[in-house]
Parts: sequence; structure tokens; C-alpha cells
Amino acid sequence: MTPLLNDTVTKHGELPSASALTTLSKDFVWGVATSAYQIEGGADAGGRGPSIWDTFAHTPGKTRNGDHGDIACDHYHRWPQDLELIRSLEVDAYRFSVAWPRVQAAGAGTWNAQGLDFYDRLVDQMLAHGLQPHVTLYHWDLPQALQETGGWANRDTAFRFAAYAEAVARRLGDRVASIATHNEPWCTAVLGHQTGQFAPGFRDEAMAVQVSHHLLLSHGLAMQAMRAAGVQAPLGIVLNHSSATPASSDPADVALAHTLYAGFVRWYMDPLFLGHYPQDPGLTIYPEVHPGDMELIAAPMDFLGVNYYTRFWASASAAPAPRQLGATDMGWEIYPDGLYELLTGLHRDYKLPPIYITENGMAEADRLEATPLGSQRVHDPRRIDFVRRHLEALARARDTGVDIRGYFYWSLMDNFEWDSGYSKRFGLVHVDYETQRRTPKDSAYWYRELIRTTRSLATQINHKEAQPWQL
Ligand code: FCB
Repeated sequence: MTPLLNDTVTKHGELPSASALTTLSKDFVWGVATSAYQIEGGADAGGRGPSIWDTFAHTPGKTRNGDHGDIACDHYHRWPQDLELIRSLEVDAYRFSVAWPRVQAAGAGTWNAQGLDFYDRLVDQMLAHGLQPHVTLYHWDLPQALQETGGWANRDTAFRFAAYAEAVARRLGDRVASIATHNEPWCTAVLGHQTGQFAPGFRDEAMAVQVSHHLLLSHGLAMQAMRAAGVQAPLGIVLNHSSATPASSDPADVALAHTLYAGFVRWYMDPLFLGHYPQDPGLTIYPEVHPGDMELIAAPMDFLGVNYYTRFWASASAAPAPRQLGATDMGWEIYPDGLYELLTGLHRDYKLPPIYITENGMAEADRLEATPLGSQRVHDPRRIDFVRRHLEALARARDTGVDIRGYFYWSLMDNFEWDSGYSKRFGLVHVDYETQRRTPKDSAYWYRELIRTTRSLATQINHKEAQPWQL
């Protein structure tokens, strides 16, 4: 059974407003995103070494149902079909990550030619399909060998990362559309080292703060190494951001909103764009910083990737958020206006490079249904509504002058959702993990229809601009 989008099926659900569609028709990149550990599988294949996520997921009690990424979506073996699937979505771009332990099993020393070849072929095939490759170097799968020497709590890991970044960028940097150093360093620092929810699973706030600095330092060192190597691709980082709404005008709620925003957004934005950590009465622990670190971290970037899923509701008395649009299957409030608030706020507070929305999407308890014709479908109207509303918020931000160049839906297909295992489905494409069969959901058809619509609008707009005498 072919997993491609059927050409005869078209629109499901309302498209964004006419004005949003017009805004999103001009020089805008449409994409889908995944990450290595969440889809690849092939854990022992082709000379890959273990990562901290292999270790964590195989430790009893750490993930839902003991799920792990040994096989995941088996993308390591099925990548040619998966790229065909992406092409059939008619997107412009695909964001994926390189697994460090696949290209350097121990995180230092020998490079694994088979691993580098895997990504090389993937990139070449994307280009053959007319897809822009957008690479992320670190989407949380640190080689386990580096964890044995302290992982991100050890400053030396930042230097190992820079060497890895340079090696991958030298290999792929002539053909990819962008290279991001890290995906969501906040998650690595806080979920990995403070709450223990993610690998490597520590519960130590001071360690988490120091890790955040080493992650930022590793970004700066990697940028320096890639620039020195003459890498042509645009270079940047991907951050997870949220707006923060005080529950009331009570000073305690307002102060909490400031602290949450400072710890989540400004903790990364200020070092990267202003060269220092933010000050806030609620932030009490600061990392050890060596002379020269902040200059490295604040070196100019070519783009910023922003991942947006929900907002912070800041209530000192723990009053619940109103959740007017409900919540996703992750329990995250659906709050599209937060994307507008966030983007316009960033634009106000920093001198930004071009922005990509590198992730946005929702988990839903999707079910396969048999159609009368004997095929299968997944009816996911809430996801369509979610994306439509977020794109309208994005378009409004773009209209006010925020330089947003593209949008990547998270995720191409259902995959290993970290500590939630396979229980949460974010994909435009459904994955049956028993058979590895892929079934495009209604939202996949809708997304393709949206892209087709903006392209035809773009042609009309360009046509008008090219022939003003016809206006
Ligand atoms: C982001 C991660 C991504 C996925 C989505 C739901 O924080 O970058 O891997 O888990 O959330």
C-alpha cells in the first residue's frame, strides 16, 4: 500500500482568511519537521553508537509503556519512501536532525563514514525531489560516551559539539538550506537536568543552569567553527518559546509572568542577542561564565528558529487558564494569539534575523477509520483548526513587519514523543507501528491544499506585479 497522498482527494476544512493567505503567499517556505531519535530507529545499524535517549528509554519507568526509539518509524530503512511521501505533500522544505552518535559513535574521535553517507544520500535525494533540506545538529541525542564524562554538565562537551558541527557542516553545508545548532536548549537543560523528565534524567537545578550555559557556549563555538570552515549555508539556532499571560493585574501574577518569560524566553534570547543573561527577581541561580563566552554566544546568526506550542498562564494562586479553545492531547492549552504576542514581542525587544517557525502542531488521539471504498482515513478536524488559527496569528505578526520566512508543521508523521512514547500523535501522517504503514490524515490533504492555494495566489500576485499596466 503506497503511503503517498492520493491525488484525487482535495480540501478538508476551512483555509485561513483571505488576507492571511495573501500574506502567506509572498516568499514563504512551507515545510514539515521531524527529528532523528523520534523517527529513525536503526539503533544498532550502520555503526551508530548509543545515545542518552537509548539509555534513558531503556531504563524502567522513564517512558510511557517503556517505549523506546529502537525501531520508531523505521525511517533509517524507509527513508526513500518517506521522502516520496513528503514530496507528495507538495511542501517546499523538510526539517530533520542528524543523530550525533550515528556520525560519531562515541562523540569524539573516529567519524563513522556510514552515518555521514546516510545523511549525504538523504540530502541529495531531497534535492532531487525539489525539497529544501533544513538540518538540526542536536535534537537531544547526545552520544552516551559523552554522558559518561559528564555530558552537558562538563564544559568540554561544548568543544566536542563544535567539532561535530564542523564535520557535519563540511559534509552537508554546500547543499542544505539552513543549519541549526540546537533544538530547544531549554528542554535539554531543564527537562533533562532539573525535572528529570527527559534524558539524562537529573534533578539538580544548579546543574541545569550550568548546562544551559554550556549549550549556549557550544552553539557559539559551533558557529565559530562552521564560519571558519567557510560553510555557506545560513546558520542559526532553534528555541522553544511561549508568551506569558498574567492571570490578573495583581502584582504577584504580573511578576510571575515576567519571571516565567525571563526563565524560558529571555534566558536564551538575551545571551544570543544582547550578550548577557537576564536579570529578574525570580531568577536566583546563574552559571559560571568564562571570559569571552558571552561574545562567542552573541555572534550574529543568519536566522532564528522559533517553536511555539502554547503559552504560560501566570497565576500566583494557581488559578487555571481559561482555555477558551480547549487543549491538545498533551494537555497544552490551544492559544494561537500567543504566537502573535510572542513574535511581535521578540521583534520589539531584539534586533532579529529572519525567523522560521520551525515547529508548531498538536497531538490528537487520532484513529484510523475504514472508508466505504475499503481504504483508511484519519479524520482530524481539530488539527486543521489548530494550524489554521496559528497561521492567521503568524500572518498578523508578519503584517506588522516581523520577518517570518516559513512554517514547519510538527510533525510529518506520528513518532516517538519522548517520555510519552508512542501514545501521542502529532503527525500529518498516521503511523501504524505494527506494520509501519503510513496513512495521510485529513490534515495532510488540507495542508497540501493550503500550499497549493498560496502558490496560485503567489502566481497571481507576481503576475500583477510584473504587469502593472493590467492593474
Ligand atoms: C518539541 C520537540 C519535538 C516534539 C514536540 C512536540 O518540544 O522539539 O521533538 O517533541 O515538542
